Amino acid sequence: MKKVGIIGLGEYLPKRVLTNAELEKMVDTSDEWITTRTGIKERRIAADSEATSDMALIAAREALEQAKLKPLELDLIIVATITPDMPLPSTASILQNALGAKHAVAFDISAACAGFVYALSIAQQFIARGSYRNALVIGAEKLSSVTDWKDRNTCVLFGDGAGAAVLSEVHSGGILSTYLGCDGSKTELLNQPAGGSRKPATAKTLEAREHYVKMQGNELFKIAVKTMTEAAETVLKQAGLTFKDVDLIIPHQANARIILAVGKKLGIDEEKIFLNIEKHGNISSASTVTALVEAVRSGRVKKGDIILLDAFGAGLVWGACVIKW
Ligand code: ACO
Repeated sequence: MKKVGIIGLGEYLPKRVLTNAELEKMVDTSDEWITTRTGIKERRIAADSEATSDMALIAAREALEQAKLKPLELDLIIVATITPDMPLPSTASILQNALGAKHAVAFDISAACAGFVYALSIAQQFIARGSYRNALVIGAEKLSSVTDWKDRNTCVLFGDGAGAAVLSEVHSGGILSTYLGCDGSKTELLNQPAGGSRKPATAKTLEAREHYVKMQGNELFKIAVKTMTEAAETVLKQAGLTFKDVDLIIPHQANARIILAVGKKLGIDEEKIFLNIEKHGNISSASTVTALVEAVRSGRVKKGDIILLDAFGAGLVWGACVIKW
């Protein structure tokens, strides 16, 4: 089995900033409530003309440049998203064409906020076994397109953006272990009821606002803390490491209180936890990867560091990954 690592990273965030103050004018909420309950101050919102693949393309180009690879050298593209450009074809196919990566196999995966960790794990298997050499793994979302801007329970939480990672064989460090999980018995806690084969779009589903994300946040909160804690413990054990070895935890950014509660349960100092939720809100599959990009860019991750990605989302699904940088 080959060692597999991330050799390039990229990110794209739309220009438009939506602040808590603006949300105060849209729904019955306050900057104080949003800040204390979630840690979010602002989030980015894509332009009407920007689709998920447009954001993914910009992030992908940056990651390829950093990896010093040409699009034609890509063998595999995986896009993790719950907001594809359209139900078919896949956003990965659209991206493959836009990039000019015509030798790459391309497909989407749907694993909500754990999507990037799921996709990373899939790409790692292909490269480790020698099936493919270079993979592009994307987490990209236009959550603003499925957000009910009249529902204060959800509209204050989400944002748009994309992150990209190029994976290839490395000779030192790389991905040390991955751990994925799913509990499909709780799909009612977080879903988008209409627009699929269960409830195709009709005037009635539109009127009932069933094409927007519905969430029972309070129930999810408790499960997220428990599950992310267990996932972090399991993946570290698999890697033969302990929390003392970890230099930085880069978690999915759904709620600062969830993240800090996980840190507390694990007995990890707050300075070892990366948070960027304040500026981006929850970008689902793009959240963990953009946090990784920003942690590396800001110098919080240095060569040789042990980092732990830890994500949880609708499904319910979860995924964790230990990487030696
Ligand atoms: N402004 C003001 N009040 C609000 C708002 C708002 N934006 N939203 C909800 N409230 C009210 C509620 O109506 C409720 O009022 P009530 O007591 O009169 O009924 C009160 O605030 C408390 O509501 P809770 O839901 O208990 O608030 P909580 O502290 O749990 O915070 C939140 C809600 C932020 C959603 C939190 O539960 C959370 O982050 N949950 C986890 C989300 C998550 O991890 N999702 C999975 C990943 S996302 C994905 O996969 C796409």
